[in-house]
Amino acid sequence: MTPTPWWQDGVIYQIYPRSFADADGDGVGDLRGILAHLDHLNDGTPRSLGVDAIWLSPVYPSPGYDFGYDVADYCNIDPLFGSLADFDRLVNEAHRRGIRVIMDMVVNHSSHEHPWFVESRASRGSPKRDWYLWRDPRPGGGLPNNWEAVFGGRAWQWDEASRQYYYHMFLKEQPDLNWRNPEARRAVMQAFRFWLERGVDGFRLDVVNAYFKDAGLRNNPPRLGLRGYERQAHVFDMDQPELLDVYRELHELLEEFGERMAVGEVMHETPEKAARYSAPGLLSLAFNFEFTHQPWAASAFQRAVTRCEAALATGGWPCYVLSNHDVSRHASRYGARHAVERAKVAAALLLTLRGTPFLYYGEEIGMRNGRIRREEIQDPPGKRYWPLYGGRDPERTPMPWSAEAGAGFTHGRPWLPLNRDFREVNVAAQRDDPHSVFSFYRQLIWLRKASVALRRGSYRPLIRTPRRAQVYLREAPGQRMLVALNFSAQPVLAAFDEPLPRAAWRLRLCTHAAAHEPLQGGGIHLRPYEVCIFEAE
Ligand code: NOJ
Repeated sequence: MTPTPWWQDGVIYQIYPRSFADADGDGVGDLRGILAHLDHLNDGTPRSLGVDAIWLSPVYPSPGYDFGYDVADYCNIDPLFGSLADFDRLVNEAHRRGIRVIMDMVVNHSSHEHPWFVESRASRGSPKRDWYLWRDPRPGGGLPNNWEAVFGGRAWQWDEASRQYYYHMFLKEQPDLNWRNPEARRAVMQAFRFWLERGVDGFRLDVVNAYFKDAGLRNNPPRLGLRGYERQAHVFDMDQPELLDVYRELHELLEEFGERMAVGEVMHETPEKAARYSAPGLLSLAFNFEFTHQPWAASAFQRAVTRCEAALATGGWPCYVLSNHDVSRHASRYGARHAVERAKVAAALLLTLRGTPFLYYGEEIGMRNGRIRREEIQDPPGKRYWPLYGGRDPERTPMPWSAEAGAGFTHGRPWLPLNRDFREVNVAAQRDDPHSVFSFYRQLIWLRKASVALRRGSYRPLIRTPRRAQVYLREAPGQRMLVALNFSAQPVLAAFDEPLPRAAWRLRLCTHAAAHEPLQGGGIHLRPYEVCIFEAE
């Protein structure tokens, strides 16, 4: 087979650095904390998780209005997390273990404290004025147009000193950069180059489809929705045609360094949009977020996969995710009952589909959302919309490493409360338990690593419209695997719509201890929430 780039072959693990591991005891995670836990991620043996890359949510200097997604310097490390020297050590140590490092680039907007914006704001005649989106009030007064901010309120902020508005898609502390300004664009590209030269292996691109806005700043049309931002169709504040040229430029830059990648967070993602932006020569990958907002049903998952496969029929590569720092953790989202069983079924799906799986820290132990009291809320949209929406703190609570005080996360006072169940749900408790969620993730990842069919093979469902169970084949020259997943709490007989290829099927992995009956004929019996992976001999 032709060689595959590592980002199509590997499993990528998202670290939210504030919450992963705190080495200096200030209650906030840091780079040295991550360094101390690299062996958990991959020590080269199946005792470790075995991931191939880590994506670090932002670690740049930031005033922290959006916890790092408001960057004040694109080419440095916030002292909260360490130094550039710590970063270099982390990259070296990660590389030594075969773990690549992906940076989060947040270049749709910067912090209002970024020197670029400070200079831009200084006066209308500032050489950097045009690096951001400044506009006069409409004739007769009023905002330049009807655009709303994602985190609430209007997207235009009045600057009294220079008597103009600036545009911010998120908080007013996150002014949007003007990608039509060639100098600003060049400066951003320089930041990419800075990290590539330091040895990073790729980038996760924040709201990658919002860099450009309609040149005429036309009003967005109305749409049915709950909150202001949702009551507009985002026709003119994102997905502008000029984007593709930036993706091309970035692609060329990555090519220059070889073996580097970029994965895009597409806002209001649809599989078709994700496919368009990750077509050959553009982004390496674009997240498919379907799994993060659908019910727990075999049919819903299969529909999402079918749609993704269809969208990518002419090229591109799937990129699935169950959880991240912006959505409720899936171990909570799929319901409190049977959470562990469902976490295992979901893991098996994610890690046996065609495409690049992204894991979110803690999901390997079935970590659930934390409970955050109102006075503990840190996340700006949570503060604004409570109790309608509690914000994103629940999915950002500290990683529970052990049952000791501080959960092995910190010696200090954690910036968000520890999960109440941390004494039971933690890495140490699961390490030697062969039935733990952690053990299951390790088995899946190491099986995937060893299986060309799971990593690169085609995907073929054996049940066209699944009711309770999904069964599919993954086939590559020389290897054929069959995956069967029971999404329900009942035993099922899952009947195949097409005959099972004749072979001696050997069970390679199973959630249930007692041996599974041999696979043959037109269907398979599955116990409640059973996962079976077979290989044809
Ligand atoms: C998307 C990021 O994932 C989210 O955490 C952040 O608040 C916004 N973009 C703004 O950067």
